[in-house]
Amino acid sequence: MTTTTGGVDAALSYLREHADEHDRQLDEFLRIESVSADPARRDDVRRTAQWVADELTRIGFEHAQLHETSGHPIVTADWLHAGEDRPTILVYCHYDVQPTDPLDEWIRPPFEPRYEDGRIYARGSGDDKGQLFMHLKAAEAWFAAAGGPPVNLRVFFEGDEEVGSEPIEAFIDGHPELLEADLAIVSDSDMYDDEGTPSINYGLRGIAYFEVKVSGPFQDLHSGSYGGAVANPANVLVRMLASLVDEQGRVTIPGFYDRVRDLTDADRAAYAELPFDEAEWRDRIGIPAVDEGERGYTTLERLSARPTLDVNGLWGGYSGDGSKTIIPAWAAAKFSTRLVPDQDFQEIEQLTVEHLKAIAPPTVRVDVRVIHGGAPALTPLDHPGVAVATAALERAFGRAPLFQRSGGSVPVVAALESRLGLKTVMVGWASPNGNFHAPNEWMPVDNYRRGMDSIVHLWDGFAGSDPAELRGG
Ligand code: BES
Ligand code: MN
Ligand code: MN
Repeated sequence: MTTTTGGVDAALSYLREHADEHDRQLDEFLRIESVSADPARRDDVRRTAQWVADELTRIGFEHAQLHETSGHPIVTADWLHAGEDRPTILVYCHYDVQPTDPLDEWIRPPFEPRYEDGRIYARGSGDDKGQLFMHLKAAEAWFAAAGGPPVNLRVFFEGDEEVGSEPIEAFIDGHPELLEADLAIVSDSDMYDDEGTPSINYGLRGIAYFEVKVSGPFQDLHSGSYGGAVANPANVLVRMLASLVDEQGRVTIPGFYDRVRDLTDADRAAYAELPFDEAEWRDRIGIPAVDEGERGYTTLERLSARPTLDVNGLWGGYSGDGSKTIIPAWAAAKFSTRLVPDQDFQEIEQLTVEHLKAIAPPTVRVDVRVIHGGAPALTPLDHPGVAVATAALERAFGRAPLFQRSGGSVPVVAALESRLGLKTVMVGWASPNGNFHAPNEWMPVDNYRRGMDSIVHLWDGFAGSDPAELRGG
C-alpha cells in the first residue's frame, strides 16, 4: 500500500495501542449532557465545548478557543505547520446532541454510555459527538506518533446544529480568517449499511421549519352549545395541514417546485445502483407499508433527492384522561419542509407563510412563525477531494465506498460554500439504523475504529493534493 507520507503506520499503531484509554475518554465525553435545545443544559453544553477546546490544546492544536454566539459557543483551533505547499483542511462536526425524550424508552440512561453487541450506546454516539471524538483521536495519533498531521488543519465545532445552526452565518462572516481552507471535511453522516460498506455522502437536503397557530373563540367552548356554528380551530388546523400535500404526494404551496433541479439520467442510474431491500427496510422501521410518496420517484429518490413536507408535532384542546367535550380556543402545529437544490430556503419560508395566510378561512386567526432554515447542498462527485476520501475509506475498510445523498440537513455545508466558496466532502461512519434523534442511539464500534483509521489515511492522502486544485475543484 502506498502512502504519501511516512507517518501513517505509526499513527495507526498509536490508535491501536491507546484504544482503551480513548474508549474511556469517549465515555467521559458522551456523559456530558450537551442538549442544545434544553435551556436547563446550557452550562453542560458550554462544558462540552470547553472539554473539546482543552482536548484540542492537549493533543497539539494551537489557538483553541470558544467563541460566544447568539446560541452556544463555537470552538475553533488550528495547526498550520505542515508546510505552505500542503493543503489546509477545515474539519466540521457538532458537539451538541438531541433531547432524549421519550426517556423511558431507553434501555440504559442516554448519558451513561455502554459497549454492547459491538455497539456504543449513548445519545451523541453517532450524531455527532462520537464522530467529533474520532477526529480528535486521529489528529492526536498524528501529533503523538508522527510529530503532527501531514496537512494543515483547522477545526470548526458547533453547538447549535441540532437546533438549526442559527449562529453559524454570522460566525462565518465575522471570522473568515479562522476558516480559511482549501476544502472542508464534514463528519456528521452515516454509512450506507451495517455491513461495513463505507460511504461518501454527496448531498444534503435543506430545511425550512415552521410553527402555525390557529385561534378562534377567546376561550374553550362547550362543543354541544356552540358546535356547528363556531369554526373549530383544531378542525381548521388539520384541514389546512392536510391540504399542504396532495394525493400525488406533492407539496401544494404555489412556487414550491419552481427551483427544484430534477434528477438527471445519471442521478437516477446512481440511485438504481444502490442495493436496497424495501421490505427489510419497512420491517426495521415497523410500518405496515411504505408510503407511495411523490409519484414518479423511487423510495430512495424520495428519501433524499426530492423535497417533502412533514408535520412534526400537533397540540391543543384536550388530550387528558377520558373525554372533554369542547371546541378548543386554539390549536397549533410544527411542520417542516426538506428542500433540495436549487430551492432557496428563505423563498420557501416566504411562500409558505403567504400560502397559509391565503388558505386561512375568515373564521379564525392564523399566526405562522418561521423557526429555522438551512440550504441544501451537493458535492460534485468529480471533485478531487472525493477521490482522496474514496482511497482513504478503501484503505481503512478494505472496500470501496458507496456514494449516497442524505435526506437530512447540515446547514453549515451550504453556508461554507455560499459565504466562503469552500467545498465540502462528507465522510461519516454512523449507522443508518443507529437511532439518530431517537431512543437508544448507537454507533458501531467497528465503524468507530475504522473511521479513525480512515481519518489517518485521509490526512495522508490530502498531503499529496494540490491545494489550488482542491480549492478550484
Ligand atoms: N447529522 C444530522 C443530519 C444527517 C442525518 C446527515 C442523517 C446524514 C444522515 C444532523 O445532526 C441533523 O440531525 N440535522 C438536522 C438539522 C436541522 C435541525 C436544521 C436535521 O436534519 O433534522
Ligand atoms: Mn448531526
Ligand atoms: Mn442530528
